[in-house]
Order: sequence, then structure tokens, then C-alpha cells
Amino acid sequence: MVKYFPSNKSSMFPITRMRRLRSSKFLPLVRETTLNVKDLICPVFVDETAGKPVEINSMPGYFRMPLGMVADEAACISDLGIPAIILFGIPEEKDEIGSHACGDEDVIQKAVGAIKKQVGDELVIITDLCLDEYTSHGHCGLVRGTEILNDPTLPVYGKIAVSHARAGADMVAPSGMMDGMVGAIRSALDDNGFQNIPIMSYAAKYCSSFYGPFREAACSGFTFGDRSTYQMDPANTNEALREVELDIEEGADIIMVKPALPYLDIIYRIKKKFVMPTAAYHVSGEYAMIKAAAKNGWLDERKVVHESLLSIKRAGADMILTYFAKDMARELNS
Ligand code: PBG
Repeated sequence: MVKYFPSNKSSMFPITRMRRLRSSKFLPLVRETTLNVKDLICPVFVDETAGKPVEINSMPGYFRMPLGMVADEAACISDLGIPAIILFGIPEEKDEIGSHACGDEDVIQKAVGAIKKQVGDELVIITDLCLDEYTSHGHCGLVRGTEILNDPTLPVYGKIAVSHARAGADMVAPSGMMDGMVGAIRSALDDNGFQNIPIMSYAAKYCSSFYGPFREAACSGFTFGDRSTYQMDPANTNEALREVELDIEEGADIIMVKPALPYLDIIYRIKKKFVMPTAAYHVSGEYAMIKAAAKNGWLDERKVVHESLLSIKRAGADMILTYFAKDMARELNS
């Protein structure tokens, strides 16, 4: 005879058996979180200097695409059912003020045009809006000496936003962490007739060492200092809530937390508090770690990727920017 524990309501064994529903027959019925291809946003690096796809050393299996191939790449992503891409440009020429971030004939503007022409409205084209890939010093704003200037950078962001929208971008994603950037971009877009272009703001973007491989990918390593005077201290949570609140007030339509896995608590709190469409960026370092471990046979890549992305959703993200988007889509489609 099995004994019950009537005095302790939380321990109703053997009446309550959590394992009953853990047979493969019931698992799908009681699963609380699912990953969907429609949750994914695929980053694409467009390299104006490349003649063919160039594999990124620290991101095995990921490539910088030449302008001439980016539309095909976008079509392939769209065919997998992925609803959106986010574009990063690597210009041929960089200068102090990032001049090539906003010309009609610059790398991103041309890439957007080519993709729109080939893929049409099937795919949401998001453009990363920042200066670091375009400046010779690699910082996200204009600089004077070693200072990253806030207010003088804002009109430049506005100009870039308008150039992206004019090229055909469906949404802009400012990632520079300058104060007031969302408001400045919203005004610039509105003043130029782009009231319907949404802003996905990198609202809570941490000063993270997990961006290392991206800086190789986008050739955006900086020549002095670091980003700690504009990106967030990894120690802080309340500050993230304030950042998000300000961005919403300034007109952000989607808010983003970045990186993802080390900041699941931030995703959770932000989703709970603001109930806004929330994105999480599973960044380059997170990709590189999984790839490296898998290469050594230490982790099962497919399973670890699935578990990672599922965790990000479970924490509250509605959409995930990830370098595993194509792999994940293939898996989910099969
Ligand atoms: C800045 C930007 C960065 C990333 C996206 N946008 C780099 C940085 O802030 O240094 C990082 C993305 C990643 O690591 O995957 N334009």
C-alpha cells in the first residue's frame, strides 16, 4: 500500500504524477511555448567590397554577401518562410563621419533596392541603422577627440533613416544607443512622408563582449575606447526598463533586447511591464559559442540551437534575430 501525504497539499503523490503527461503522445498538447518560422529574423551582411561570399572567421558557416548576390540570398530566406531580414552594410570606403551610410548609391540603399525588386513585398526588409560600420573609428556616433557626441549624431541618424526608407526599407532598426535617437528618427521619417515606416529600437542594448564576432563580420572594430559610454552596463536591470520606456515615448514600435541568452531576465521583465512587440537579438558571440562547441563534438548543435531559441521565446520575446534563422527554418519546415 502506498502512503499518501494528506497534510502536505503540495505533495499529493501518488495521486499527482507529473510524469503522466510526459509521454510523447501528450507532450505536444501541454507544450506551453513553440518556435515558429514566423518568429525569426535573419541578419544579412552586405559587403560592397566583396566579389563572392566571404566566410566570417569567427562565425563559421556565415558569410558576407556581395551586392550582386544579396537579392538571391534574400529570396532564399523568404522561400524558407522567414518573414524578415535585417541588413548590415560594409561600405567600400569609411570616413570620420560615416558619409557612406546615407547616400542613395551606397551599399545598403542599393541592397534594399535590389531585394525589393526581386522579392517584392514577400519579405520585410529591416535595416540596421547605425554609424559604426561606416566610420573609420568604428564608433556608433560622431566623435570629437575621444568623446562620442550625442546630439550632433541625431540628425545624421535621421538622414540615414530617410535614405533607407527612400530606398524601400520596410522598417528601420537604430542600434546606436544615442539618447533621443528614436525621437529624432521618428521626426525625420514623418517630415519626409514616411509616417508608416515602423522603428524597431535596440532599446536595451548592453555593452557586451558577445558582439566580438560581429565586429569582424561588419569590419566595425573601434580604433579607441569602447562602447561603455553609450551601451548599457550588464549589471543593470532598472536602467533597461527606463531605456525602453523612453524609446516607447519617442515612438518605438518594437523594442529589442540584446544580447539574448545572458539577458533573459531583461526580456522577461520588459515584456511583462510594457506588453509591447518585443524582439531579442541572439548575437554573434552566442552563435560562435555554439558553433565552436559543436565543431568539437561537445554539443549537439541542432538541439542546442532549438533549446536556446525556445528559451528566448519562453522569456517573452515575440521575435528573434538569429544567425541560425535559416537552419532553424529548415528544421521547422521539415
Ligand atoms: C552596431 C551593432 C552591433 C551589433 C548589431 N548592431 C555591434 C556593436 O554594437 O558593437 C552586434 C550584433 C551581433 O553581435 O551579432 N551597429
